[in-house]
Amino acid sequence: MQEPTAYQTLQTHLRATPRTWLVTGVAGFIGSNLLETLLKLDQRVVGLDNFATGHQRNLDEVQTLVAPAQWANFNFIRGDIRELADCQRACDGIDYVLHQAALGSVPRSLADPITTNAANITGFVNMLVAARDANAGQGVQSFTYAASSSTYGDHPGLPKVEDTIGKPLSPYAVTKYVNELYADVFARCYGFNTIGLRYFNVFGPRQDPDGAYAAVIPQWTAAMIRGDDVFINGDGETSRDFCFIENTVQANLLAATAQNPDAVNQVYNVAVSGRTTLNSLFAELQAALATQGVHYAKAPVYRDFR
Ligand SMILES: NC(=O)c1ccc[n+]([C@@H]2O[C@H](COP(=O)([O-])OP(=O)(O)OC[C@H]3O[C@@H](n4cnc5c(N)ncnc54)[C@H](O)[C@@H]3O)[C@@H](O)[C@H]2O)c1
Repeated sequence: MQEPTAYQTLQTHLRATPRTWLVTGVAGFIGSNLLETLLKLDQRVVGLDNFATGHQRNLDEVQTLVAPAQWANFNFIRGDIRELADCQRACDGIDYVLHQAALGSVPRSLADPITTNAANITGFVNMLVAARDANAGQGVQSFTYAASSSTYGDHPGLPKVEDTIGKPLSPYAVTKYVNELYADVFARCYGFNTIGLRYFNVFGPRQDPDGAYAAVIPQWTAAMIRGDDVFINGDGETSRDFCFIENTVQANLLAATAQNPDAVNQVYNVAVSGRTTLNSLFAELQAALATQGVHYAKAPVYRDFR
């Protein structure tokens, strides 16, 4: 028989000894997928969200996917990470924090750097302080947070290696890099465990297809289903590393529960280490939808680079 993977072993362990997790940004794409997995593992989950970009429908969908007894283990707090009191309330009694709440999107941060800064930096520091002071000053066991591949900025090297970054190319990238600096300083100064996960273009169920700041896979999929034009910025030979949500969820659970002292207080890439050009993504989505009876016959519309 095959040895169980580290993730399988962890799942067995968590089912036997349920813990209390805080997922911030729980009504969003990644947060709601973390919620679903944790509840299915019979964990207790506190969720914090202000619905800035997340949706009640994501929580409703998770409710339909778990057993009623598992759903009863979920406690939702409608609150804002820009408010320290909301963060403190959410951190009470928590073992592991999975901090996902932030305003994503590079273009959004270019349009409104102040609001992005407030959620992504002030909110982040509030969460660090609340997690440090939780449980009568004992702190939480670990603080795992959503970092970003945008931290590589203008560094041209491939593959991306954690220690070698360039200069940030947007206000959003600045905020995500500042998160890493703060997490590192909190680990050094207050001795509590943080792990940053640099996500690369995560995709999967409940990713928002709507709005000006939607990610490429849900946006194109929705456009193809509707028969609308699909726009490619540039010649389509730009490549990205697309990572399926289940890998992101695994990385969070493994990071939060990591015991090896050398493994904590680090940042890690969460990616598949594969390059997909936008042109090949278009073709793959077209082919995948055809297997579902959606035949998209239009060619992509090429326009200028953003
Ligand atoms: N999706 C990706 O490809 C990707 C890549 C790199 C990093 N990230 C990071 O992962 C995290 C989750 O991203 P996502 O794709 O699930 O986005 P999302 O927009 O679906 O989820 C973010 C959630 O945070 C909530 N939120 C925002 N501001 C808040 C505030 N002030 N107080 C409380 N809640 C707030 C939103 O309402 C939303 O539910 C973010 O930190 C994002 O920067 C995502």
